[in-house]
Amino acid sequence: MNVLVLGGGGREHAIAWKISRSRDCENLYAMPGNPGTALLGQNIKGSPSDFQAVKSAVLEHGIDMVVVGPEDPLVKGLGDFFAQDKDLEKVLFIGPCSKGAALEGSKDFAKNFMQRHSIPTAAFRSFTSETLKEADDFLSTLKAPYVLKADGLAAGKGVLICQSLEQARVELRNMLGGKFGAAGNTVVIEEFLSGIEVSMFILTDGKDYLILPEAKDYKRIGEGDTGLNTGGMGAVSPVPFVTDEFTQKVRERIIEPTLAGLAEEGIPYKGFIFLGLMNCGGDPYVIEYNVRMGDPETEAVMTRIDSDLLHHLKMCALGRLSEDRIEISPKSALTVVCVSGGYPESYRKGLEVSSNALSLSGGNVNVFHSGTSYSPDGKLVTSGGRVLAITANSSISDCPGCSSAAAGLIEEGRRACYAQVEKIDFEGKYFRRDIGLDIIRYIKG
Ligand code: AMP
Ligand code: GLY
Repeated sequence: MNVLVLGGGGREHAIAWKISRSRDCENLYAMPGNPGTALLGQNIKGSPSDFQAVKSAVLEHGIDMVVVGPEDPLVKGLGDFFAQDKDLEKVLFIGPCSKGAALEGSKDFAKNFMQRHSIPTAAFRSFTSETLKEADDFLSTLKAPYVLKADGLAAGKGVLICQSLEQARVELRNMLGGKFGAAGNTVVIEEFLSGIEVSMFILTDGKDYLILPEAKDYKRIGEGDTGLNTGGMGAVSPVPFVTDEFTQKVRERIIEPTLAGLAEEGIPYKGFIFLGLMNCGGDPYVIEYNVRMGDPETEAVMTRIDSDLLHHLKMCALGRLSEDRIEISPKSALTVVCVSGGYPESYRKGLEVSSNALSLSGGNVNVFHSGTSYSPDGKLVTSGGRVLAITANSSISDCPGCSSAAAGLIEEGRRACYAQVEKIDFEGKYFRRDIGLDIIRYIKG
């Protein structure tokens, strides 16, 4: 098969890497891709949100399957475009249509969807500038901290957690006043849930589903989960509290009602669903849906899928996931993201990256490219805040029910990962040194 992966970050590099290992993958393309995906196949210039450019690439290269990495083109209707275009009807497409993508594209839609289908989530109400007084009244009924969410896509920045009622009222007005542009015309206010977060992922054809390995993301810039929120500074998989019992609750209370709800509302869905969950005393609650894989979670998750991802994607697109099974490695995966100094605030681009970033993958380590490109004179340089995501897998297998061994696996993954992180060089390189330590503490009790 000829496969086109849309997107150009670490997530897409990891998806492309996994697809490239399939026997059925003849030619692999990425649009726009990055220097990492260029090692696996061919990069094609263009934006995944430019539908005509995607169509031209598909026809020119005889693409059999398109796998969409980011949410933006899906929310804008790339899935609908493929479904409606006669020239593209035979192309297998992984990603929902715009109605399905609204699970991520509109927090108001997602929350109401969960309410309609009795899916556990924080209590909430949605407001606009016309209902400001009701919003203030609703805020007064909640306890601090206060959670405010812009309804639409806001580049991952649209959620504010306010410590005081006064701050929440000010931020509510800022959001309705355009702080996040039109994305904040409607604001969801919700109850704060305390617990531990976990990212779970499914691949679904709308009826059946495969559960991919789960992961924990490290969102804050500083060690000990301090400082500003980022796109993600690291990931670990597996997550010890995601036991069979917890997973069964997620299946019964969240995944199956979500798929039944989509079907009932006439929304076809073929693609990934990322469940951002809060474990509140052993019970899962949905913090958010995403209609794509997570970044940097994917860079850990892909390395733990032992079976053939391209085969799973094909069965998904053909609506035959009921016949399919996924094999997950008992080895752990740990990902550390190297960012550019200053990130997530302002940072420089175009800084030269040591060329070993292109050759350090091998054995138990993968170096995934998130924000790199080539300068006009052919040097590998930084082109984003998150530059590289380095994943190491433990070399030995897990020992079920044997907690000290599980902690040892993560320790081993940390050693292997940080040894590679140290070898890569660019000016201002920053990374968190504590990825996985909380999980080790959790396992050791
Ligand atoms: P979201 O974009 O909806 O995932 O929110 C971003 C982050 O805000 C989440 O990963 C959580 O850490 C936090 N968050 C969102 N909603 C809640 C909530 N209701 N209670 C506690 N934390 C939340
Ligand atoms: N790592 C969180 C996300 O991809 O949204």
